[in-house]
Amino acid sequence: MASTATDRVSQIIDHLAQVTPSLKDKVCIVTGAGSTHGIGRATAFALAKRGPKAIYVTDLGMDNLEELAKEIERTYAGVECIPYAVDAASDSAVTGIIEQAMSKYGRLDVFFANAGVATGDRLRDETAESFMRMMRINALSCFLAIKHAGAAMSVTGKGGKEFSSGSIICTASGKYAKIYIFLSSYKESKNIFIHSCWSSFWCWIT
Ligand SMILES: NC(=O)c1ccc[n+]([C@@H]2O[C@H](COP(=O)([O-])OP(=O)(O)OC[C@H]3O[C@@H](n4cnc5c(N)ncnc54)[C@H](O)[C@@H]3O)[C@@H](O)[C@H]2O)c1
Repeated sequence: MASTATDRVSQIIDHLAQVTPSLKDKVCIVTGAGSTHGIGRATAFALAKRGPKAIYVTDLGMDNLEELAKEIERTYAGVECIPYAVDAASDSAVTGIIEQAMSKYGRLDVFFANAGVATGDRLRDETAESFMRMMRINALSCFLAIKHAGAAMSVTGKGGKEFSSGSIICTASGKYAKIYIFLSSYKESKNIFIHSCWSSFWCWIT
């Protein structure tokens, strides 16, 4: 166990130097994987290609998830793919799926917080409700991923995990977050997302 933040950074750098593209023995969760042409689905395949032990593919409802899980298991032998309905912006749903992964496999290694929504609404057409809906799905989901997946990734001694480690990936939108002028709530929600990721780095290494 590293005693200072500097030790921990050195430990992470040493670890990254040894990391291979393989996800052997690792357990992954992807949110927003139900869209047939979406980034979540494509990422589930990209993860499967690297041979993890298990991937949970999740979305608000079960649409397309069972078919996705079957296709992944058929294509990538040895990868367990579990479809699950998870509201990525619900505290209990996110902790529920993480607890399930931890109790079945003892570890969590990748959490892809991909679920998100965008609208083309302009500021003048937004309402308090539409703004808060966007915040809930795009920003709160990121906070929940970082908080709960980060805690689970710190757990060692189970599922063959020796050191606390893992990757929490959040899909922001650099262009829209910085310069796009009229997509108000989308831009704000992605900005929170980006700042949460920056501050979480410090949170989980100390
Ligand atoms: N497509 C792009 O050009 C682009 C660019 C930058 C960022 N992004 C971001 O990438 C992510 C995925 O985009 P996409 O183009 O694949 O979108 P998509 O609409 O194809 O997929 C998003 C998925 O998220 C799901 N979802 C929405 N709310 C949810 C919730 N509360 N809980 C669980 N699932 C929920 C939807 O059901 C959908 O399946 C989003 O966060 C988006 O903002 C996309």
